[in-house]
Formats: sequence, structure tokens, C-alpha cells
Amino acid sequence: MKLINPHGGTLVNREIQGSEREELLTKATTLPKVQLSSRQVSDLLMLAIGGYSPLDGFLNEADYTSVRDHMKLVNGVVWPIPVTLAVSTDVADGLKGPSEVSLYDDDHLLGILHITEKFTYDKEREAQAVYGTTDRAHPGVAALLAQGDWLLAGPISLLNRPANTSFQQYRLDPSATRSVFSERGWRRVVAFQTRNPVHRAHEYIQKCALEIADGLLLHPLVGDTKSDDVPADVRMRSYEEILAKYYPATRTVLSVMPAAMRYAGPREAVFHALIRKNYGCSHFIVGRDHAGVGNYYGTYDAHHIFDEFEASELGITPLFFDHTFYCQTCGAMASLKTCPHESTNHVTLSGTKVRELLSAGELLPVEFSRPEVARVLIDAYRVAAGSPLVTASGRNN
Ligand code: ADX
Repeated sequence: MKLINPHGGTLVNREIQGSEREELLTKATTLPKVQLSSRQVSDLLMLAIGGYSPLDGFLNEADYTSVRDHMKLVNGVVWPIPVTLAVSTDVADGLKGPSEVSLYDDDHLLGILHITEKFTYDKEREAQAVYGTTDRAHPGVAALLAQGDWLLAGPISLLNRPANTSFQQYRLDPSATRSVFSERGWRRVVAFQTRNPVHRAHEYIQKCALEIADGLLLHPLVGDTKSDDVPADVRMRSYEEILAKYYPATRTVLSVMPAAMRYAGPREAVFHALIRKNYGCSHFIVGRDHAGVGNYYGTYDAHHIFDEFEASELGITPLFFDHTFYCQTCGAMASLKTCPHESTNHVTLSGTKVRELLSAGELLPVEFSRPEVARVLIDAYRVAAGSPLVTASGRNN
């Protein structure tokens, strides 16, 4: 059975092997060094393994402008988020004309950027277009404003993977998830993006989606998140706790997605969907306030943005879910779409309430979180000794 094609048609592979790698390793030692931030490291990896197909490097000015203003590459392929390599003016000044630089994470050589262009850019304009705001309190905007004033463009060559080997057993490249899906005979695969522990609302929409698919890819993000998001190891532990007990092993794959969160709401929902298309998924779950933060986006803006594209331009099919919760009168999980009862019947908790309960060592209502997950969170809360650890399905962050 044939899986969905990668975005743009071909799965990019910029991880260099064999004698070419040996040659480039030698060459890298002779090139100017550029230090990458941890977000840039994760972007480099995503580019190399084809997670960002059809991109094979950092955007040039024409593509950057087109992505910012039209959510498309110059060739018309949909791409909603600029993937760029920002450097300081000092670094840019040191590079004369098209050249190559070696890319480092501290003293760990990662690869080479084959520079085709360097250019300056308008950060405020990018912030407004991509995040819908120029407010510095927005974590994506803050990261953008803090980065260098020049962008280096060009294809990349990955020579060594990042040194960070956490979650190793869950690191499956797009080519690997595609192999797994094929071996299992899946064609319709639904992906779930998350930066949170798994609460009942998440489980409900995952399983509703699985009802119409062959398989479910649980794909927590493990790149950088803002400091008050639940840490990736806690997020992963929550899934490990309940997977064996409550999910059908023959129809579920747990893997991690290395990119960083942007908190770009609607645009990031499209970005997340296209990434999962590259991993071989035909369907993608978009719930309420996907990739949102604070009150910057309307609850369903991340649904509406998909209307701006033809289905054929995206390839992957979004599955939209309204706000879900346990309804005491229905006696079941439900959503604003399926439940006719007043909100007083619904078990929803604010992030603040969740934090309160967990810091007191109390389990969350079982209708909200399974006890296995609540215990993981209580333990993590104790270790973090009161840090603002927990966000919930009634997200207020
Ligand atoms: S996100 O930043 O990765 O979107 P989160 O991990 O909270 O954050 O959400 C993962 C997915 O579940 C998103 O598609 C989100 O919209 C959806 N979601 C989370 N909670 C709910 C809920 N209570 N009802 C409906 N969808 C939800």
C-alpha cells in the first residue's frame, strides 16, 4: 500500500555518508565556524532528515519573502514558516560573497552550509506576518527579535548528528516512520502533535481520529519550548505510562519530533501538518488553539487557516476537533460540537488549578487525567520543587 508522498514530491536527505562525508569533514576544518543556537541545531537536523522537505537548506531572500507574505515558496509550494539561519552582523561581515561555513554546536561539528546568499530582513514585518503580533511578550516574537540581523541562505550538508541523544529509542527519521507504516500495512495514518503530557482530552481526540485511520503516530515535540512548558522528559513519561495499558500496540507508534516550538498558532498548525506529511502521515489532528500561547490567537484560528489552501496543495488532510472535555451528564468525553449540556456539567480545569492540585500531591480528577499520568506529574512537580511545571488541557499559558 502506498503512503502519502512527501511534501514537494521527494523526501530530502542531506545527511552525507561515505567518502563524500570524509572529504567534507576535512574541508570543514578549514572553513569559518558558525555557532548554532539549539533551535538552529534542531532546524538543521530537520532539514537533513527530510522533515522539512522540500527544503534542503535555509531559505534565500526570494523564498523567505514569499513564505512570509504568501505562505508559499517562490515555486508555489505551500510553506508557512520561514526556516532561516540568523547570524550577527559581525559573523555576516566576515563572510565575503558566496562561500561555505562549518556549523557547530559548541565544539561539536554538525555540518556545512553552502552559502548562496546573505541578506538582512525586517523582523517586525516577519513577526506580524508569522505570529500575528509584534508583542515581545510572545515567545516566538521574542526569539525572532533576539536573533541576529543577517540571514545566511543555502543548502546544508549534515556530517554529524547533534550530540543530544535523549529519547534515542523514539527518534525515527521520516524514512524510518515510513518504513514502519509500510511494514504494518498502514496507508491512512493520523499524526498527533503535542508539547504537553497526555490528558483525557488528548486521548479522546487521538482515539476518535484512529477510528477512521489505520494507525496513529503520537509525535510529541522535543525541541526547545518556553521555560514554563512541561519538560519533554515528563511529556514522554506520561505517554510511556499509559501507552501499554490503554492504546492498541498494533495501531500506535510513539516517536519524537525534534523541531522547536514557535508558538505561531495557525501558521504553525500548517507547518506541523506538512512536517507530519513528510513522516508519512495522511491525516493530522488540529484541536483547539493549536500551537497557541496566551490569547494571541482565536480558539479555532488554526482550523480556519486551512481554508486558505486547496486540499491538493497540502496533500495531508487536517482533522479538526472542537474543545473536548468529560461531560458528567453525557457520562462520556465529548466536545462543544457533540455535547448539548451546560458548561457546568463539564470537567475542565485551569492551568492554575492543575498546578495547585499537583503541588499539593493530589491526583487530578480521573475525568481530566488518568491517575498514571497525574502521578508522573506529581513526581515531576516534586522534583522541580514548585516550578511552574504544568499546563493542562484547559491551557492558560
Ligand atoms: S500544541 O502547542 O502542541 O498544539 P498541546 O500539546 O496542548 O499543544 O495540544 C496538542 C493538540 O491537541 C493540538 O492539536 C491541540 O489543539 C489539541 N488539544 C489540546 N487540548 C485540547 C482540548 N481540550 N480539546 C480539543 N483539542 C485539544
